[in-house]
Amino acid sequence: MMVLFTDSPRTLVLLVAMLFLLSLLAENGHGVLTTPTYSRNDFPPHFVFGSGTSAYQVEGAAAEDGRTPSIWDTVAHSKKSMGNGDIACDEYHKYKDDVRLMVDTGLDAYRFSISWSRLIPNGRGPVNPKGLQYYNNLINELVRHGTILWHMQMCAFREFGDRVSHWTTVNEVNVLVLGGYDLGFSPPMRCSSPFGFDCTSGNSTSEPYTVAHNCLLAHASAVRLYKTKYQAKHHGFIGLNLFSYWLIPLTNTTEDITATQRANDFYVGWFINPLVFGDYPDVVKRNAGSRLPSFTRYESRQVKSSYDFIGLNHYNTLHVKDNTDSLNSDRRDVIADMAATLIFNWDEVPAGEFPITPSGMQGVLEYFKQKYGNPPMFIHENGQRTFHNTSLNDTSRIKYLNGYIGSTLDAVRNGSNTRGFFHWSFLDLYELFGGNKSSYGLYFVDFKDPDLKRYPKLSAYWYSKFLKGGNISNNQGVTEAKTNIHTWFEASHSSQ
Ligand SMILES: *[C@@H]1O[C@H](CO)[C@@H](O)[C@H](O)[C@H]1NC(C)=O
Ligand SMILES: *[C@@H]1O[C@H](CO)[C@@H](O)[C@H](O)[C@H]1NC(C)=O
Ligand SMILES: *[C@@H]1O[C@H](CO)[C@@H](O)[C@H](O)[C@H]1NC(C)=O
Ligand SMILES: *[C@@H]1O[C@H](CO)[C@@H](O)[C@H](O)[C@H]1NC(C)=O
Ligand SMILES: *[C@@H]1O[C@H](CO)[C@@H](O)[C@H](O)[C@H]1NC(C)=O
Ligand SMILES: *[C@@H]1O[C@H](CO)[C@@H](O)[C@H](O)[C@H]1NC(C)=O
Ligand SMILES: *[C@@H]1O[C@H](CO)[C@@H](O)[C@H](O)[C@H]1NC(C)=O
Repeated sequence: MMVLFTDSPRTLVLLVAMLFLLSLLAENGHGVLTTPTYSRNDFPPHFVFGSGTSAYQVEGAAAEDGRTPSIWDTVAHSKKSMGNGDIACDEYHKYKDDVRLMVDTGLDAYRFSISWSRLIPNGRGPVNPKGLQYYNNLINELVRHGTILWHMQMCAFREFGDRVSHWTTVNEVNVLVLGGYDLGFSPPMRCSSPFGFDCTSGNSTSEPYTVAHNCLLAHASAVRLYKTKYQAKHHGFIGLNLFSYWLIPLTNTTEDITATQRANDFYVGWFINPLVFGDYPDVVKRNAGSRLPSFTRYESRQVKSSYDFIGLNHYNTLHVKDNTDSLNSDRRDVIADMAATLIFNWDEVPAGEFPITPSGMQGVLEYFKQKYGNPPMFIHENGQRTFHNTSLNDTSRIKYLNGYIGSTLDAVRNGSNTRGFFHWSFLDLYELFGGNKSSYGLYFVDFKDPDLKRYPKLSAYWYSKFLKGGNISNNQGVTEAKTNIHTWFEASHSSQ
């Protein structure tokens, strides 16, 4: 999942509109032309490389075998423009083929999620045996091929814990809170005027703080359950996932530099300070005042250190401009409390794509290293977006990955405790906010084909070559991949 959120609802609308009008930023750091040769052998031996998907975006079979609608089904169906995940990639039926593709590609690990309304259709109460069977089938198929399993979202320790090595309690917890309860652009779409987009109910000034607080307590309680009942037996790990930009001051004025720190404290510190230090950042307490719940000493102790690792979804670097004027208003949402404006630079970025600023990856990882005592980190999502209808010759995805994996290596070499990298996404899938227009996949899925056939993009060959130990630099390996793509196409077309 990929989400953007920013300083004000209006800018957000603009950004969402601009998703389709991007262009390529002059690259710095690890661009295709400047990257030194590196290979996966330059990473520590246990560093994990994988790729991911999420249940609603890939499974399909939305009404099959007892699954009931989740809030995502409801929202997707209420907005025609969003498309929906009724069929998606039909991984529910094609999981064996997809696991085969993962193995061929050379992934160490697969990061996926469980559809709760498939596993526990009534929200509480009995487990759906067909749902249980599906996830057991998928997991067993992966295990049979030696793939390490990663899992996001709460919490099926008992049923799957013996085979899943890493658990994530909540995915993009900061986006869940801001998107769902302040700006109202994602389920359950709550907000209150003048904040967010025409929500029918909600309270943008107070709910985000309450929900964030409850997410942290729920996270801590799931971690406690796992650690006391399952960890000793299953030897797995558990953590929280956050969406993170790299933020740099727009100018070197004290105001913009302070605003950048404040923005980090709101986007990241709001969640990670409690995990690492047991309490919210001072600036969040100060600006949110009585709207911010406080931790009792017991809660603080429960939340503090409730992680084995922190997962990050990182895609973009933004500039930050001071906006302390927003503090003059009595009625403030989180964005107004943050008092900073986040600015994308889409100059010369090709339509549908992200700017390529790999140095942001090292920036984020260094920030966690220096500010939070170098916790174990995983890059849970990173990858380039392109229009789904563009060619399989996705050189900008290769350029992006080459840069960001290189920048991850730079961070590791400078002491960051980063232990893995997951490309988003393995397949082109139903994109929650871009419908079927934008894609992140290494494999193209032909959504017009009733059989939903998968085709490797050039990036699939690039990543595969990297995973299998080949050196990655410039266009090395790509020529070979082009030949492969042509051969593959000819083979698959002549066999039809
Ligand atoms: C939102 O919650 C705050 C704090 O409880 C309250 O003062 C305010 O009236 C509420 N606003 C709306 C729109 O309900
Ligand atoms: C701010 O200072 C840093 C460090 O000296 C420099 O790298 C950066 O380019 C400056 N930023 C601006 C916008 O001048
Ligand atoms: C590809 O999709 C984008 C977004 O929907 C659209 O703007 C563009 O015209 C399409 N291009 C082609 C060649 O169909
Ligand atoms: C792929 O794209 C690159 C750059 O956009 C171009 O140089 C190359 O010729 C393309 N290859 C094919 C097979 O279309
Ligand atoms: C490397 O780590 C040191 C020590 O934490 C830090 O001072 C330095 O800024 C880091 N270098 C980069 C390029 O981030
Ligand atoms: C995207 O979804 C729309 C609406 O569901 C559908 O009409 C269109 O054919 C789809 N496009 C592709 C490329 O699958
Ligand atoms: C990768 O590059 C390094 C440094 O240039 C070289 O020593 C090594 O042999 C290369 N490995 C492969 C598999 O090509």
